[in-house]
Amino acid sequence: MPDNVTRGHDIEPTLTAVDPADEYLNPESADSSWEGVLTGENSALQRTVDPDTQPGIDDFADRVAFVTGGSRGVGRGIVRALLRRGAIVAIADKYPEPIDLGEDADPTRLRSYQLDVSDREQYARVAAEVKRDLGEVTLLFNNAGIADSASPSRMSYQMWDHMLGVNLGGVYNGIQTFTPDMIESPRRCHIVNTASEAGLVAGGSGFLYTASKYGVVGLSESLRFELAHHGIGVSVLSPGPVATDIVENTRRLRPAEAGDHTARTGQMLDLVHEILHLHGLDPDLVGEYTVQAVESNAAYINTRNTTTELLRQRTDAIIAAMDHAQDFFETSATKV
Ligand SMILES: NC(=O)c1ccc[n+]([C@@H]2O[C@H](COP(=O)([O-])OP(=O)(O)OC[C@H]3O[C@@H](n4cnc5c(N)ncnc54)[C@H](O)[C@@H]3O)[C@@H](O)[C@H]2O)c1
Repeated sequence: MPDNVTRGHDIEPTLTAVDPADEYLNPESADSSWEGVLTGENSALQRTVDPDTQPGIDDFADRVAFVTGGSRGVGRGIVRALLRRGAIVAIADKYPEPIDLGEDADPTRLRSYQLDVSDREQYARVAAEVKRDLGEVTLLFNNAGIADSASPSRMSYQMWDHMLGVNLGGVYNGIQTFTPDMIESPRRCHIVNTASEAGLVAGGSGFLYTASKYGVVGLSESLRFELAHHGIGVSVLSPGPVATDIVENTRRLRPAEAGDHTARTGQMLDLVHEILHLHGLDPDLVGEYTVQAVESNAAYINTRNTTTELLRQRTDAIIAAMDHAQDFFETSATKV
């Protein structure tokens, strides 16, 4: 190994004081925690609070929940489940439309706002309106999303910006907007980010959707640890097929400059639409299941177990690559 390359365990930890804002480090043992991270002995940053031991939310009555994409599909299912529990709900949707509440709830506890989650300035304005109209948001459901695809031979920055801007950027915008007040709140708070099975295993949903949803899973997993000591729970919802019109709704939202789909991509999306309606779960049931998961502070919210083998294959392949690397670097480091 060249002299100027430093191995992790040769680095002297230089952290001497821990800012209270950095409490995901253990203030008692910041140096040793960094040492562990650098040497690979700790799998993650030291946690002062284990999120998995924290309670869920059991007092929905009169809490204010903010649900993006709440006018249709899974979001509407979440809205109905929240209203059944007595919460006050703000729906934020690019195309809000009235919801038939049946006998579920009191319509005066529901308000809709027009919001494109990828628009940061509009997001801040709407969040301020909700706070003024309804009060402090302590439950956040970053659910709005689109399901589009592009052939790898027709990549475009417009499609990348559009897909990542809504599916990942929109989730992040919600988190950055509401987290400061949640940190200050005396009440326990909870955030649910909607990803997809495509955020756990690749294949079948296209590289754009997959990239955006892997991002949502990583963001959620990391924030679950980093927000635990602030009394904020974080869950990630990764559904399999749900019977919604997401494909059609997404087509309406596709930016003109993104260009047309290839015939094959168009057919593939038509097929996805059919599959969702033939095999997808009832979005109201998914909404109810999601809110039950908030009650138990579940880290992962999934809707079926048919992709477990693919997930295992992916994990096995990563572990095999790590073992291979360990052998290579142990045996060849001094020979190069
Ligand atoms: N339906 C499925 O099979 C499925 C599977 C896995 C994950 N998901 C995810 O679940 C979430 C909800 O999807 P759905 O199936 O209920 O779709 P849907 O189209 O029925 O509902 C999505 C809602 O989000 C709104 N929306 C879209 N773009 C927006 C934006 N930029 N700003 C604000 N609102 C916007 C739409 O107007 C719509 O009301 C998405 O994140 C999606 O990726 C869905």
